[in-house]
Amino acid sequence: MKTIIKTIDKNNIDIESISIAADILRSGGLVAFPTETVYGLGANALNEKAVSGIFAAKGRPSDNPLIVHVSNIDMVKDLVNNIPELALKLMEMFWPGPLTLIMEKSSRVPEIITAGLSTVAVRMPSHPIALKIIEESKVPVAAPSANISGKPSPTEAKHVIEDLMGKVELIIDGGSSQIGLESTVLDLTVSPPMILRPGGITKEQLEEVIGKVNIDRSILLDRQADLKPKAPGMKYTHYSPDADVIIIEGNVEACVEKIKELVTDYEEKGIPVGILATEQTKEKYTRGVVMSLGDREKPDIIASNLFKGLRYLDNKGVKVILAEAVENAGVGLAVMNRMKKAAGYNIIKVGD
Ligand code: TXA
Ligand code: MG
Repeated sequence: MKTIIKTIDKNNIDIESISIAADILRSGGLVAFPTETVYGLGANALNEKAVSGIFAAKGRPSDNPLIVHVSNIDMVKDLVNNIPELALKLMEMFWPGPLTLIMEKSSRVPEIITAGLSTVAVRMPSHPIALKIIEESKVPVAAPSANISGKPSPTEAKHVIEDLMGKVELIIDGGSSQIGLESTVLDLTVSPPMILRPGGITKEQLEEVIGKVNIDRSILLDRQADLKPKAPGMKYTHYSPDADVIIIEGNVEACVEKIKELVTDYEEKGIPVGILATEQTKEKYTRGVVMSLGDREKPDIIASNLFKGLRYLDNKGVKVILAEAVENAGVGLAVMNRMKKAAGYNIIKVGD
């Protein structure tokens, strides 16, 4: 298939390109577009055949349900039988934005979207290009992250091009995704509501609006859970670059020392190594390909650079990536969740 690439300036949106995207979606095609979290691969959520194209293009297992994206709250009424009171409060506070809500689905939502579950995941993105495309297409848009299943999610159009060129009708380049990690997924069908995937909206922020919120236990563990994660997608290998990722966790000085020792060991064996460092530590490394994820006191910045860093080091051809852990709180919980998955829970703990 020939893939068209179009660049759109998010501050000066070219309506003609948006109409092309909307036409493709309405006629059952696939469009990759930027959102504020990561790039999404969109199809008309009400068209089963179009949605099956998403699974094919990504190589995604069919038991992993998709998020349906809307451009206004009215569109949610078609997708669920009843919008719970708590959902309305959360929509008011956090939509448009990086929060996905799980609710009981209506009969209009095809089974292929929900992988046979009785619930559906819904989100209103805040990225102006994403919103315009959904609005213009006048249909709800199913959109997983626009990567090959298992790879780090794309935060720039060039990542999408690496993964999906020739597999989709249109890729829209709208610059970098600002948040850089996927949305927080919150299950509203249980009480208290439960975070199934940590993201840019933190537990603390949610609790300010709706009171007690739980976190799925498998997210808090340091090893692949025997527990069955409640978001089906969380059980798969994820966010994995080609290189092996190892996390080094502990106080910062001890981490740096351990990483230096490991880099030397690997390089002496002829194995090229990449390091995911921070602004505070990057100058301490004299060997290996060093990429700083940003100021370790600013988890938002670290979050926005993580997937990009993994892809960057992969493209440099390193075989091993040594990653400094960051604080496991607030947005850092989402960062460490993605990092642990990328590492397949390969974590070395050093002196505290
Ligand atoms: O930020 C995001 O959410 C991005 C952008 C493109 O919007 N999308 C995204 O989609 O990350 P995806 O497909 O990569 O992740 C969807 C997650 C998966 O972990 C999936 O299992 C979970 O949401 N999910 C979807 N529907 C669900 C449901 N009914 N119940 C529980 N989990 C669900
Ligand atoms: Mg994904």
